[in-house]
Amino acid sequence: MSFPATDQLRAEHRVMERLLERFEGELGDPQGKGLFALATTFAEIQKHLTRHFAKEEGVFYPALAAELGAADAEISKLLDDHTQVRETSSAMEALLNQASPGTDLPISQRAELSSLGWALWNLIHHHIEEEEQGLLAFADRKLDAGSQTRLAARMTD
Ligand SMILES: [Fe+2]
Ligand SMILES: [Fe+2]
Repeated sequence: MSFPATDQLRAEHRVMERLLERFEGELGDPQGKGLFALATTFAEIQKHLTRHFAKEEGVFYPALAAELGAADAEISKLLDDHTQVRETSSAMEALLNQASPGTDLPISQRAELSSLGWALWNLIHHHIEEEEQGLLAFADRKLDAGSQTRLAARMTD
């Protein structure tokens, strides 16, 4: 059995986990060069999320919702997760934008930045786990190799 579509999504999750590992280290010291490093990793996370969510929301989720009505509640839960991730990510972006280049954030904003960063870290990890154990496992059981291949072909960058 081959799983081109779900394997592609899983591979992207592994890339995200590596980014989150770097992010985790940088959250501990968001000042000076550390703030710049954190902002750089955060921008990569956002870019990766945008592409990944577009594939899931534009191709993968609708295909599964259409073929497998039973997964509907699961899909709306996953879409809610995406919304939460986007909201937390926007709040973090807004805060990072308040730091002018070369200047550190005041301590209260630094604390808020860390807490938003950790919230984002948790939301993404939790979502990946739920998606892989739920919808992706379900898709692996239900989709034949042809459907997997056709979906993968539609999920190109
Ligand atoms: Fe997702
Ligand atoms: Fe995903």
